[in-house]
Amino acid sequence: MTAPKISFPAENSPQRANSSGSFNIRAKVVPLKPGRSLMDWIRLGKSGQDLTGTGGNVQTVTVEELGKHNTERDAWISIRGRVYNVTPYLEYHPGGIPEMMRGVGRDATDLFDETHKWVNAESMLEKCFIGPLKRSSVVKKKPPRTGSGKSLNVSSGSLRSHNSLFVPGTQVDGFAVPVPVPPQTSQDPRYDWYQNDKIVTISVFTKKKDIKTEDVILELRDGKDFDAIFILREKSFRVHLALSNVISHQQVRLSGESGKVDLLLTKETAGVQWTELGQGLQGNNSFKLHKDRESRLWDCRVMSVESVTHNCKLFCCELPSGIIMRIPIGHHIHMNRDVEGMQISRPYTVVLPSLQVDPSEREYDGKRFYLMIKLYPEGTLTPTLKPCSSR
Ligand SMILES: Cc1cc2nc3c(=O)[nH]c(=O)nc-3n(C[C@H](O)[C@H](O)[C@H](O)COP(=O)(O)OP(=O)(O)OC[C@H]3O[C@@H](n4cnc5c(N)ncnc54)[C@H](O)[C@@H]3O)c2cc1C
Ligand code: HEM
Repeated sequence: MTAPKISFPAENSPQRANSSGSFNIRAKVVPLKPGRSLMDWIRLGKSGQDLTGTGGNVQTVTVEELGKHNTERDAWISIRGRVYNVTPYLEYHPGGIPEMMRGVGRDATDLFDETHKWVNAESMLEKCFIGPLKRSSVVKKKPPRTGSGKSLNVSSGSLRSHNSLFVPGTQVDGFAVPVPVPPQTSQDPRYDWYQNDKIVTISVFTKKKDIKTEDVILELRDGKDFDAIFILREKSFRVHLALSNVISHQQVRLSGESGKVDLLLTKETAGVQWTELGQGLQGNNSFKLHKDRESRLWDCRVMSVESVTHNCKLFCCELPSGIIMRIPIGHHIHMNRDVEGMQISRPYTVVLPSLQVDPSEREYDGKRFYLMIKLYPEGTLTPTLKPCSSR
């Protein structure tokens, strides 16, 4: 089985409870006219027809020019600095024409992300690309030499001084400017660390009393780039570090009832005393609305496929090594697949590993998850899920 890219709106899944404790209801997907399915859109894109309406010559588009193309017969939209002619796509839009019209004639990046950040517009509208959006020539204020003054040394407020954790500066106009870290309040989560011969423990004081291991997502790259996200209702806290030494293993342990979580990092070389924890990387110490964070896409391996009925199969998927994420049963992930050159995303629901198993006995190591998927022979994504050699 080839590896599907799975993105995890475990972070902002439609099923994740919002702050009021209720669930987000998925907006209505409108019925499309016959011949307007996603597969039909892919075919149209490959037909060689000019979908730009401008002859396909890439041109820079000003905000003023973009604003003139705001009707159903002539609809341009800008997403992430790229302008597309969406006139031919309107009838294929699963959210309907009126919804799409809310974004035409302007930079609709925020609206697009609010609705469906996981949709790969760049790939789906590749054949409708007109050109880059020319930003209006507003003179940007030069950042002050010293930055916010609070941001350079993150140890203030969150770490003991001996931990010497620094946010690396970036180069702007010849000045080193610290990466901004939002000021912390006493209500924000914070973290500290200590060590013994074998283990470095990062204690995160999340203040979420009912925190579960499911609320913690860990990612370790190259033994040193350590990234932890704590989902604390609608906001999330991030610890993102270039560790000073390599670790071989990581584990989450809930500690007490105060919302403290210990991250146990096993030193690759036991006995070595770390003089510092490491350096803060982009997003370290940030506490913000979870929906405002980047979605993540990971290459997952399909470990096994088991038939449930003639057209329904149970997929066991493995996260890349270094990632620990316990996706709650019933939550959704988005699976991304390349379908004839277009990046297609579909949501799926995480299920139990087996319909027979006692939920309390199931393996729950945060490294695998299971999906029950109905295969549509005429569908767009599911026909690509054919078992073959693993990965
Ligand atoms: C929140 C959520 C959770 C989900 N969880 C699961 C899950 O756990 N398991 C699961 O199997 N699915 C789940 N789905 C559905 C899943 O996301 C896909 O929609 C499904 O797998 C079909 O994808 P596809 O690309 O293969 O098929 P599609 O291309 O969407 O086609 C599906 C069928 O509809 C027909 N069709 C498509 N467009 C049209 C049209 N315009 N007119 C007439 N017929 C049309 C196709 O011919 C095909 O028979 C979930 C959906 C949501 C929204
Ligand atoms: C910016 C204005 C837009 C608005 C307000 C909007 C709105 C919506 C809404 C309400 C839905 C149904 C909700 C849902 O599926 O959960 C939807 C679905 C969808 N839209 Fe848009 N949309 C916009 C732009 C676009 C663009 C430019 C694309 C181009 C690729 C696009 C592609 C899709 C796709 C693929 C779906 C189905 C999503 C899924 O099944 O997960 N939309 N849109």
